[in-house]
Amino acid sequence: GKVLFYDFMVKETPIKMLCETNRTILTVNGLFPGPEIRARKGDTIYVNVTNIGPYGITIHWHGVRQIRYPWSDGPEFVTQCPIPSNSSFLQKIVLTEEEGTLWWHAHSDWSRATIHGPLIIMPAYGKMYPYKFDQEHTIVIAEWYTRDTKAIIDEALESGGDPDLSVAYTINGQPGDSYSCSNGSAYNKTVVRGKTYLFRIIHSGMNEEMFFGIAKHNLTVVGMDGAYLKPLKINYLMITPGQTMDVLVTANQTPGRYYMVFSPFVDTNAPSNENVTRGIFQYNDNYNHSETPILPELPGFTNKSDAGNFTIQLRGLNSKEHPSKVPTKITRNITIMEALNARPCPANKTCSGPQGTMHSASLNNITFSAPSISILQAYYNNLQGVYNKTFPDTPPFIFDYTGNVSALGDAANVSTEVLMINYNEEVEIRFQGTNFAAENHPMHLHGYSFYVVGMGDGNFSDSYVSRYNTVDPPYVNTVGLPKNGWTAIRFKADNPGVWFMHCHLERHASWGMDTVIVVGDGAKKHQKVLPPPKDMPPCSVS
Ligand code: C2O
Ligand code: CU
Repeated sequence: GKVLFYDFMVKETPIKMLCETNRTILTVNGLFPGPEIRARKGDTIYVNVTNIGPYGITIHWHGVRQIRYPWSDGPEFVTQCPIPSNSSFLQKIVLTEEEGTLWWHAHSDWSRATIHGPLIIMPAYGKMYPYKFDQEHTIVIAEWYTRDTKAIIDEALESGGDPDLSVAYTINGQPGDSYSCSNGSAYNKTVVRGKTYLFRIIHSGMNEEMFFGIAKHNLTVVGMDGAYLKPLKINYLMITPGQTMDVLVTANQTPGRYYMVFSPFVDTNAPSNENVTRGIFQYNDNYNHSETPILPELPGFTNKSDAGNFTIQLRGLNSKEHPSKVPTKITRNITIMEALNARPCPANKTCSGPQGTMHSASLNNITFSAPSISILQAYYNNLQGVYNKTFPDTPPFIFDYTGNVSALGDAANVSTEVLMINYNEEVEIRFQGTNFAAENHPMHLHGYSFYVVGMGDGNFSDSYVSRYNTVDPPYVNTVGLPKNGWTAIRFKADNPGVWFMHCHLERHASWGMDTVIVVGDGAKKHQKVLPPPKDMPPCSVS
């Protein structure tokens, strides 16, 4: 592969959006969404990240495995401390395995709302795509807030209350024509009749899963999270924050104008037209170009069965060139219960969470609390007292998770626990949802992609194992755990290091629905974590 260099300048940038004419947001290189990185499988990328913004920041390469090199992975206080203002960090990204669409984003507080962009990985030199298309286009979906997102989350965590919601969704930085002051700002894709387009869809939104469709046009999903899928022809798709999908669309309808719409699956706002963002899929033929586009039919708001129906249809490509390698000799079986909890309000405070408590979330009844130096640094240098190696393999108590949740009444423990896994173990994780959530939890693991071997409603039962798909399950880095349901994943622990795992809904991640997986070194030299680079951002060790 080749070696590619990019410069990222994190800085404050003035922007006009909807009715706001005088806002400043944090961007990379002045762009929203940020610059696209484009490479081939096998390439090595160096990104020199310079921060001239007002506070420390980190950048994460979402979905890149970073084999033996967690130093460039990015989550703050997990693999590094933030890059301070007026300094730089050279990050190295080696594309050994991924092929398709991924993305990068800030991984400190809520700064990823505006600091994110595409990471496109084409087939290796001399290799072909396993499908055909005429032209490709990247679509980045994001959310727009009317205030600085760091202030929003800092305030919410302080008061224990709900953070502000976004006021609009955007497609490639444009909110579309369904909001006030949005005239003429719709993302517009002109197409030629008979041609097939590859849309690389990146959900960099913060808190809402989305349905997507284009009026009258079929979508064929051919890839997800940087791996190929068996082509799946559908009318709409469901995408969660963190996920990426490669979708073919053939312009085969009567020439005209068609809306492409992202509409939230669950939104705490009232469901209305105000909550969808629209772009236009427009033929270049001769017709009345001022005609009102046709709207697609998308599943209704909170339509859980339509959301689930999409996900369970996905299959890995499993071809000769792209075989599935699903672990079948599981040596480590882990169950992780996910819950939203409320924490008691400290005595000297008033809190604005439910009934005067503080919002909180947990995995196996542990609410993750980030240390003030990086866990990776503590692990690599054998520093004591930064984290505990005691994240449990099972929930601390067993109850009817998806029925009566009164057992969850006791608040979770707030601490920094990591899950220790031996090198090369074949791991299965069963995520168990609870009745205590309004939506799915898109669970994301750093350092790995994993096979989604099973998913269903209700409490997990061992009898489901015989029904797993171990032939051609999708290979992804983020999977929606259904509300009131379960999801089982498998992976081989062949990448030593310190890897964050969390819900990709920012509210839940901020409330503590996170943990860290530490995969130990193997015995051989090429099975160990590589040494850190010289310019790791400093942690202030007290
Ligand atoms: Cu997309 Cu932990 O991140
Ligand atoms: Cu969640």
